[in-house]
Amino acid sequence: MDIPMLPIGSELSRKYIVTSEHTAKFLGSGDVEVLSTPSMIAFMENTAREISQMYLPENLTTVGIKVDVRHLNPAPKGAEITVSAKLIQQDRRKLVFEVKAFWKDELIGEGLHERFIVDRDKFLSKIKDKLSR
Ligand SMILES: CC(C)(COP(=O)(O)OP(=O)(O)OC[C@H]1O[C@@H](n2cnc3c(N)ncnc32)[C@H](O)[C@@H]1OP(=O)(O)O)[C@@H](O)C(=O)NCCC(=O)NCCS
Repeated sequence: MDIPMLPIGSELSRKYIVTSEHTAKFLGSGDVEVLSTPSMIAFMENTAREISQMYLPENLTTVGIKVDVRHLNPAPKGAEITVSAKLIQQDRRKLVFEVKAFWKDELIGEGLHERFIVDRDKFLSKIKDKLSR
């Protein structure tokens, strides 16, 4: 695979609304109606994925391989969350992103997220092979 080199420093910011399905109570990761940690991480992953996709050809995509994030403050159902991701490092097929989430100018989460560049068809056919074994 020819590995495209992505521009270090590329940044993206996205807004997400906390719905019932994003709450810890709904997902069972807690029993209160606040933004769940897995949902905050999904917002972060999605924002980082969007950055990588801007620079990859159609046949390549990225999969999440590591998350190291701190959830610092709660956010209620209905809150608008601003999530930013910034590409800070590339080691061949591994991309490292700095990720942050804010609610009303307060930092509610931050950390690092790694993604791996894969050929979409090869990645899926490997799983199909395993399934049929
Ligand atoms: C990421 C993942 C595909 C890596 O699997 P793998 O079997 O190690 O990867 P592959 O065999 O496809 O690729 C490894 C190759 O990449 C190379 N490589 C490139 N950059 C690399 C890097 N930074 N670190 C490690 N290996 C790297 C290796 O040298 C190796 O090359 P080789 O095959 O010539 O020896 C696997 O860990 C995985 O599927 N994780 C789950 C991801 C997922 O499901 N996420 C949720 C959905 S988004």
